[in-house]
Amino acid sequence: MMDQQCIKEMVAKEAVQALVKSGMKLGLGTGSTAIHAVRYIGALLQDGSLQDIRVVPTSYQTLMECERWGIPLFTLNSLEIGGTLDLTIDGADEVDGCNYCIKGGGGALLLEKLVAYASASYAIVVDASKLVEHLGLRFPLPLEIIPESRVPVMKTLQALGTEVQLREAVRKAGPVITEHGNLLVDVRFKSPVDPLALEAELNQIPGVVENGFFTRLHPQVFTPKGV
Ligand code: A5P
Repeated sequence: MMDQQCIKEMVAKEAVQALVKSGMKLGLGTGSTAIHAVRYIGALLQDGSLQDIRVVPTSYQTLMECERWGIPLFTLNSLEIGGTLDLTIDGADEVDGCNYCIKGGGGALLLEKLVAYASASYAIVVDASKLVEHLGLRFPLPLEIIPESRVPVMKTLQALGTEVQLREAVRKAGPVITEHGNLLVDVRFKSPVDPLALEAELNQIPGVVENGFFTRLHPQVFTPKGV
């Protein structure tokens, strides 16, 4: 049986082979699956199979991996990108039958959503453990919030009948601070919810910067076959 890392690598490579072409402007996601897409694109650039790729990374993790491979890096604001991308490849924490996703387990949901919604096409690479019937029952929904809103946002979310936890850092005392200087809260629902409605509604709570439901895109989902 293949181990999970090999499965993630295989799925990420499959997406790159199917979708990435020379000359593309790419968004590259974060996490233990998307990083294999970064590495494979880096290898293809190094052996000359791919040329003229411009990448917008979604986290320090992705940025640093691109640097290791010499992948040309930009932001959505760069002249060379002009605010739009051809394709984004990313992982996900959960994917349901409508291909709606929960993302943000790696804390990068804000830039991940920005690049996803700026992309002409969107691909999600996941192993089979991510496929669920209802989002948010097993994996909690992450929300990025401004630090000043921590108590009121958590109370508002609890009043909606959810369990809410401030995400704590590992090997640093206190909360996780995002790339944008914000906090993360993880929200667990007690029964199935409507992700499409909640993606819009949760952002109406003052202090919420963005939430980890991704429902307004129609990603091509790459999952392992015959493993
Ligand atoms: C990062 O913030 C997330 O959205 C990741 O895409 C997600 O957590 C999937 O990561 P893994 O591929 O490591 O499970």
